[in-house]
Amino acid sequence: ELPAYEYIKISTPKPGVGLITLNRPKALNALSTPLFLELNDALRKLDADKETGAIVITGSERAFAAGADIKEMKDLTFSTAYTTDFIELWSSLSHQIKKPIISAVNGYALGGGCELAMMADILYCSAGATFGQPEIKLGTIPGAGGSQRLTKAIGKSRAMELILTGDNFSGKQAGEWGLAAKVFETAQECLDGAVGQAEKIASYSRLAVKAGKEVVNKSQDLGIREGVEFERRVFHSLFGSKDQKIGMTAFAEKKKPTWSHQ
Ligand code: HXC
Repeated sequence: ELPAYEYIKISTPKPGVGLITLNRPKALNALSTPLFLELNDALRKLDADKETGAIVITGSERAFAAGADIKEMKDLTFSTAYTTDFIELWSSLSHQIKKPIISAVNGYALGGGCELAMMADILYCSAGATFGQPEIKLGTIPGAGGSQRLTKAIGKSRAMELILTGDNFSGKQAGEWGLAAKVFETAQECLDGAVGQAEKIASYSRLAVKAGKEVVNKSQDLGIREGVEFERRVFHSLFGSKDQKIGMTAFAEKKKPTWSHQ
């Protein structure tokens, strides 16, 4: 049972899919600490929930999220930011959640909103979405991984240009640059597309999906040789799973596999 939240909504639009909708419309889903605490709580619960196989995070048609909450940060001092490790709580999404997360981005995804979208394992958007890292206009820089993830995703020169000018870019552009895995025409198509792919992922062996996420993420931190060796070890280990036997036996017998998730 998930508790009722104030700044997010949770639903199960398809079997196995946990949908988190950011719901702070008056502030265009600005990512305040209370909102992020709820998001982390919901993610942890969905990650632990046996019925859930994949998670989708979305916002509204107008805004995925217009950034970290500027009003909350305005008077923050270095000393408080440092001692409370401000923004560190945003990392649990990318470091602790083991089930796949898809972001479905419509409207504004600015600053921390763009960073949140990029923390997801797969990013989908609509063509008219507005991405950007406008922190430079506020006298600061991205603080939730934007300089690292955007650079890895679209290359140094483009990321440098965007972060130093604060220029926005469209969903269409995000697709052309490879930041988004798919670009949809409308917001509804984007959300339906994300939920559909999440449902597909949730229909597979949880074990294999978890391993797949783990090995792809390793590529972000390791060189090619260590990465390939890591992948091979994890691949070997899956021969110890029931689902590898179930999957390959079903293929050989021309049947549909019924996963044990073991
Ligand atoms: C707090 C925000 C907000 C934000 C919008 N609002 N973005 N509040 N933090 N990031 C609030 C507005 O103050 C306003 O509240 C209401 O949402 C509606 O926004 P408007 O500006 O009136 O809407 P509009 O004119 O349509 O403009 C939309 C917008 C603009 C272009 C997205 O709101 C905007 O530029 N927002 C800030 C974008 C930004 O700089 N993001 C990066 C933040 S820094 P009221 O009460 O007036 O109705 C950041 C740091 C990340 O993210 C690093 C650490 C994670």
